[in-house]
Amino acid sequence: MNIHEYQAKELFRLEGIPTPKGKVAFTVEEAVAAAKELNTPVTVVKAQIHAGGRGKGGGVKVCKTAEEVKANAEKILGMQLVTHQTGPEGKKVKKVLVEEGSAIDKELYLSMILDRDTSSVAFIASTEGGMDIEEVSASHPDKIHTIAVDPAIGFQPFHGRKLAEAFKLSDADLKKQIGAIGQKLYDFFFKYDCSMVEINPLIITKDKKLMALDGKLNFEDNALFRHPEIMAMRDLDEETTGEIEAGKYELAYISLDGDIGCMVNGAGLAMSTLDVIQMAGGSAANFLDVGGGANKEKVQA
Ligand SMILES: Nc1ncnc2c1ncn2[C@@H]1O[C@H](COP(=O)(O)OP(=O)(O)O)[C@@H](O)[C@H]1O
Ligand SMILES: [Mg+2]
Repeated sequence: MNIHEYQAKELFRLEGIPTPKGKVAFTVEEAVAAAKELNTPVTVVKAQIHAGGRGKGGGVKVCKTAEEVKANAEKILGMQLVTHQTGPEGKKVKKVLVEEGSAIDKELYLSMILDRDTSSVAFIASTEGGMDIEEVSASHPDKIHTIAVDPAIGFQPFHGRKLAEAFKLSDADLKKQIGAIGQKLYDFFFKYDCSMVEINPLIITKDKKLMALDGKLNFEDNALFRHPEIMAMRDLDEETTGEIEAGKYELAYISLDGDIGCMVNGAGLAMSTLDVIQMAGGSAANFLDVGGGANKEKVQA
């Protein structure tokens, strides 16, 4: 399950990971009021949809006056935002995050994933933050550093030093900050049963503070029952109606782009079926696993 940037930042704040002050707004009036409450010289209005690339698509606007906040909130709220992650039809923006503008010195990339090659949680760090990481990985693979953490020993100070090295940090205080952030993120990943944490960009501010300027979190669906507070952050607007309906019956359903419907019992068989369809030149409209032990009720649903 995914959540919005503003929700990710609430969790970051709760766990002591530095991030700018901000407030979510559902209407233009709320956005203007939020900016007034923040009372910072620069305010940023950010579209909240479950997709990256919002900046390039016109969904992130830096504002210097209350009038600019109003004008941009008017423009962004209700817009059909198209980014490289939304598909050509885009996504309708129903809320914005109004946050304090940061004076950025440098944008870095930091994420954490479950690394199946090393059976551990790994950090991915790059000095090329703020950009599409797939692009960086294709054109400058040497600029991407993977730092796996052995689960038997957990996060250690040397992991912090490796992060500092990957980010080419020379300032002693910044090195200390990245060590602390690395430790907190590592704990965060396990505490909330994440499957991915992505901070792009992690910034160095002009006054030499590290800060999470964006936040994308992915949670392991099978562990969600342990986190009612995360489950409460689910936004049904971001899911297709088919996926919501399937969720009610605890069916594993993912809608795809093709035109051949599949209903299969057992995930392994479902995956092979997709492979066979693909091999024969077709494309599946969905992945639906009714479960190996499917009963009459589940199939009927
Ligand atoms: N609070 C902020 N202050 C200053 N600049 C910001 C702020 N938030 C975002 N930006 C700028 O906008 C860019 C895009 O924002 P981001 O949150 O990463 O959205 P996305 O990844 O969806 O494009 C950032 O790389 C940064 O340059
Ligand atoms: Mg980003």
